[in-house]
Amino acid sequence: MTGPLPILRWPDPRLATVCAPVAADDDMADLVRAMFETMYDAPGRGLAAPQVGVLKRLFVMDCGWKDGDMTPMVCINPEIIRSEGMASGAEGCLSIPGVLAEVMRPDRITLRYRDLDGVTRDVDLDGFEARCAQHELDHLDGIITFDRLSPEARRVVEASYSVSFPVRPA
Ligand code: NI
Repeated sequence: MTGPLPILRWPDPRLATVCAPVAADDDMADLVRAMFETMYDAPGRGLAAPQVGVLKRLFVMDCGWKDGDMTPMVCINPEIIRSEGMASGAEGCLSIPGVLAEVMRPDRITLRYRDLDGVTRDVDLDGFEARCAQHELDHLDGIITFDRLSPEARRVVEASYSVSFPVRPA
């Protein structure tokens, strides 16, 4: 598998699917390489496996690369084991191009995940990194930013998306 891979766009039903855990003996190295290539090419700061049609619990992120500070992370079977505070912030998504949605989330989390070497890690994240990790983790549960909005706010941003990318009947 080589990248960049096609990125699925909402409302593709695969983006609304709860993904399956990655098995311990599942070699994700090729997929991860292709996902980083896809994410940097897009360009974005995070990409979840279902966004490239792989319905497994895995995402990659690098919140600093656009500012010249490469911080690539591979998060396999991630879970939030602690969260604190709440903050609102604008979130884009490679699967909903052109839309920024204002989403309220905890602003400090501890993320537990397995890395590509099979090591379990607990990492404290805050600010944009915490937001990005939660956004990507949402993708693994079939949740997109629209699902985090009030019905009124959702109507407004969904309408702006439909104008940019009309959904055509099959
Ligand atoms: Ni996204």
